[in-house]
Amino acid sequence: MKFSSPPMEDSHHTMSPTVTTPTLPKGYVLHAGYPPISSYRHLRSASGLTARSVAQAAPVASNSWYGCYITYDDNNNNKPVEVAMGRIIGDGGWYFHIADMATLPEHQRKGLGDVVLKELLAYIGRHAPCDEKEGEYPYITLFADGPGRRLYEKNGFKETAPRSLGMQLVYDRGLVVPGRWVLGS
Ligand SMILES: CC(C)(COP(=O)(O)OP(=O)(O)OC[C@H]1O[C@@H](n2cnc3c(N)ncnc32)[C@H](O)[C@@H]1OP(=O)(O)O)[C@@H](O)C(=O)NCCC(=O)NCCS
Repeated sequence: MKFSSPPMEDSHHTMSPTVTTPTLPKGYVLHAGYPPISSYRHLRSASGLTARSVAQAAPVASNSWYGCYITYDDNNNNKPVEVAMGRIIGDGGWYFHIADMATLPEHQRKGLGDVVLKELLAYIGRHAPCDEKEGEYPYITLFADGPGRRLYEKNGFKETAPRSLGMQLVYDRGLVVPGRWVLGS
């Protein structure tokens, strides 16, 4: 597989990689990093995820732990376009949350989402501290929307319920005032 910018290997604290990255179809290239803000926003909204503003998208590249995306070159002298992405929000120690898994509809079901997910997992495998004897292993989470569930299950993810339920503090104007949280009623 072509990889525009392979991540550096760590010389210590590695766990053996257990994922293999399959080959991409012709014209597609996997890149380490994040799509430009405009492409990020387009990828989210065009794939059916909630639209995000420029201000919300701006910190993605600087504040995520790792990300990757796939471009497509139709070989017609057009600029390659970003067609799939995913990223990891995490502390690099043990918390790793996978987010923004999205493939443009016309490029779905070609294995791109699988390549992105496997690359994210492989990167954790290469860089996260892991020593099973010490109980040291990465804690990898995500919220699975309908279209991604099979993909995640195929890659080893399991539902956490009933042991642990994903919960969200749903935005409520009554709970949040500009600049500060209101605690209590
Ligand atoms: C979830 C999502 C990222 C998957 O992306 P994708 O690039 O289509 O993923 P893949 O092609 O790797 O796999 C998806 C399905 O296509 C199948 N597939 C893979 N290659 C294929 C091919 N050449 N021909 C036909 N089907 C194929 C996979 O087996 C899988 O099907 P399955 O779920 O029935 O097993 C994409 O559907 C998406 O962007 N959905 C909208 C946004 C979203 O909900 N994101 C998840 C948020 S949690």
